[in-house]
Amino acid sequence: MSKNLPFLVDQLEIRQKNGLLRSLQFVDQFIDFCSNDYLGLARNQELNALIRQDFERWLAENKGLIPINGATGSRLISGNNSLTENFEMACALMHQAESALLFGSGFEANLGLLSSLCQEDHVIFCDQLLHASIIDGLRLSKGKKVIFKHNDWQNLDMELAKYPNQIKWVVVESVYSMDGDLAPLQKIVELKQIHDFELIVDEAHAGGVYGPHGAGLVAELDLIDHVFARVITFGKAWGNAGAVVLGSQTLRQYLINFARSFIYSTAPSPAHVSALLTTLHFIKGCDKLREKLKEIISFFQEHTQHAHWGKSQSAIQTLLVPGNQEVRRIAQIAQEKGFGLKPIVYPTVPKGEERIRITLNALTKQQDILDLIQLLESNI
Ligand SMILES: Cc1ncc(COP(=O)(O)O)c(C=O)c1O
Repeated sequence: MSKNLPFLVDQLEIRQKNGLLRSLQFVDQFIDFCSNDYLGLARNQELNALIRQDFERWLAENKGLIPINGATGSRLISGNNSLTENFEMACALMHQAESALLFGSGFEANLGLLSSLCQEDHVIFCDQLLHASIIDGLRLSKGKKVIFKHNDWQNLDMELAKYPNQIKWVVVESVYSMDGDLAPLQKIVELKQIHDFELIVDEAHAGGVYGPHGAGLVAELDLIDHVFARVITFGKAWGNAGAVVLGSQTLRQYLINFARSFIYSTAPSPAHVSALLTTLHFIKGCDKLREKLKEIISFFQEHTQHAHWGKSQSAIQTLLVPGNQEVRRIAQIAQEKGFGLKPIVYPTVPKGEERIRITLNALTKQQDILDLIQLLESNI
């Protein structure tokens, strides 16, 4: 046995003792209340047929000309091709952005963007509840970090005023992944009249769901011109994987030169990019599914009664169940009845804010919602 293995075993045992051990599971047999497949596109047969058809056509057109199975390298070495650039151009157009740069995942996009952008003499103002990928990007960045209270634009205003002369960035999510609440984007943009800063918005949970043709919440609120960079991810409503950073051509060129998660990583394969291009055209036409999702969210909210339900207007709904042990107990009861949902425990959320996290999607059945609410409320 390697002499370092006991350290690994010890760490796992500590996690187990604290009730925090993570493990992989299959959830296919459960009723889906935990995936990010907001529009059901990950399992949409019609989209799947189009993805196959488009890729077959692309293969036929490119046989023998370029690598067809893998990208063969990073974009800067051998992995660039017209398919990827066409996708980026179509994606920029869809989101009314000057440019888009594709990353292998949202995690990589945030890591590359935030670590490369903010310099030693800059100050980065971060909402308290930012996603781990943004936090890790910020950890790698040289700038000073200032955390403001979650969604509290007045607190942000106060913090911004303390740094009148520095270059300033503000980082928020349009829909927060743990609470499902929306950032006060309009109010934050208004602060730009008082303080000089650039705004970065992670639209992971808003892309495909909000805005004209699913272009996101920033587009829905008509704030595109006030936002320096947006991150749209493809692993949620798009039903696929990957992400783009949207912004100016200069930002794109900067990231190509300085974002290490872009520079030193193999580019997405042609099959992946082709599927994204097909999905882009498909998701623009999904207004009916977006409407359906809104109806399902309203239906859910109309039928919850317990005071511990969060106030989210999005597809992410939460039931506060303080204590790791208690929240796990409630989750297990629901799982035993066939509901696929997850307990969110400390330290992912602060102590006392442990919760059941539920995600709704356009295919969620009303009866399943009623049964789940009844089960949770009668056991809490
Ligand atoms: C707000 C937010 N940003 C970024 C990511 C990372 O995106 P990806 O899953 O594509 O790596 C997630 C994923 O959960 C997220 O919730």
